[in-house]
Amino acid sequence: MTTVLVLNGPNLGRLGSREPDVYGSADLDALRTLLEGEAHSGTRIDLRQTDDEGELIGWLHEAVDARTPVILNPAAFTHYSYGLRDAAAMVTKAGLILVEVHLSNPHAREAFRHTSVISAVATGVIAGFGFDSYRLALDLVARRSAA
Ligand code: DQA
Repeated sequence: MTTVLVLNGPNLGRLGSREPDVYGSADLDALRTLLEGEAHSGTRIDLRQTDDEGELIGWLHEAVDARTPVILNPAAFTHYSYGLRDAAAMVTKAGLILVEVHLSNPHAREAFRHTSVISAVATGVIAGFGFDSYRLALDLVARRSAA
């Protein structure tokens, strides 16, 4: 059984009610159900959310130790957390895939969202497709794992 960690940063626990015009009206449970439906048999989706930077960093350490691929929506930490960046770098330097995802397209929004301190150490980035950003990331993880 292969596990894929789907990690979500601050305020994403409020999906569904938070700025639905930007993030849609479905919540994280709906995202989990969607990804579980998409996952190949033999793949387990471990979807988590935290508002705590240290907890998110700890989950990336866990990914390194357990050699788990990661789909990461760092939310607002995207734009300024060097601690999270260093942890993400550990994941990709360990040879594991880490896909940075965003529901919205940060480049089409406020200037502070145009900078990601994570992207340079991620394997790649998918942004702007709502829940499909995660579905595409899951597909990539499956392709890379099969390669
Ligand atoms: C986000 C974009 C970030 O700028 C924002 O802080 C979020 C969500 C997205 O998924 O579009 O919380 O990561």
